[in-house]
Amino acid sequence: MVNYKDLGLVNTREMFAKAIDGGYAIPAFNFNNMEQLQAIIKACAETKSPVILQVSSGARKYANQTLLRYMAEGAVEYAKELGWEHPQICLHLDHGDTFELCKSCVDFGFSSVMIDGSSLPYEENIALTKKVVEYAHQYDVTVEAELGVLAGVEDDVVAEESHYTKPEEVIDFATRTGCDSLAISIGTSHGAYKFKPEQCTRDPKTGKLVPPPLAFDVLEEVEKVLHGSSSVPQEYVDIINTHGGNLPDAVGIPEDQLRKAAKSAVCKINIDSDSRLAFTAAVRKVLAEKPGEFDPRKYCGPARDEMVKLYKHKIIEVLGSDGKAE
Ligand code: G3H
Ligand code: 13P
Ligand code: ZN
Repeated sequence: MVNYKDLGLVNTREMFAKAIDGGYAIPAFNFNNMEQLQAIIKACAETKSPVILQVSSGARKYANQTLLRYMAEGAVEYAKELGWEHPQICLHLDHGDTFELCKSCVDFGFSSVMIDGSSLPYEENIALTKKVVEYAHQYDVTVEAELGVLAGVEDDVVAEESHYTKPEEVIDFATRTGCDSLAISIGTSHGAYKFKPEQCTRDPKTGKLVPPPLAFDVLEEVEKVLHGSSSVPQEYVDIINTHGGNLPDAVGIPEDQLRKAAKSAVCKINIDSDSRLAFTAAVRKVLAEKPGEFDPRKYCGPARDEMVKLYKHKIIEVLGSDGKAE
């Protein structure tokens, strides 16, 4: 049994309380490799922003859960080396699907876990979430649950109102499970294709898709976590498409909607796809411009720099978490 406190990590309790009071949101960035982790820590150290490092099922398969956990431990030391005296870094399991997986993460030094029972019937979601909460809370590990189906997890489904979280279930669910935070569905979804073109209008000047607004009325009821919050920056989509890529009609959540969410009852905003886009755009550009290049550091380095820029932009211009972890 490894306690996250011995690794210099923190849980989300104090982070979220301060974020709600202060009208900002904590960034939750997924990481799968060293360059992403370096970029996240550099951006957070330079802006003094608290951060949640997320490990997804895809990341566990790709990079190995043990290795990722040791990388997060190393990230605390790296943050200090960068001059961040009191780093506030949480290591979080993203979309845990079983009690056993959540338990193994708690036992191995994660400071927060998500149990995603959103695909289960309501009562089964409650029972599973409660079991995880009872175990995790013994070790002061915080638990995120999910209510409402986040469209987009299934490849051919995009944001649809019928799956939105029912406000009347939220208090009942939170009280009966004891979860610390709740991922809700208000129109966001995972990935770089969050809406079908027919759900959007088209900007007549640029020809780009303009998505429908999020369902902010659901939000007013409780404190929330927002998954699927990438904005899918069109400059990255354009760089990718003009350097051999093919991402037609990729569309995300506009940043003004996310700013509004961060200022309200949303305390955690999840971003993964934007980092993938920044990375891919930078790599494609270098390889297209310098076809003789074969040293991965020559294209992963610029990709890392681009991700630092992206993370700092999110922290300062969208979430407002800069300066909140001095
Ligand atoms: O939950 C969605 C995240 O973006 C992680 O996805 O399992 O492909 O790493 P992944
Ligand atoms: P995006 O695909 O919008 O980046 O969402 C990431 C996420 O919600 C991870 O759990
Ligand atoms: Zn998610």
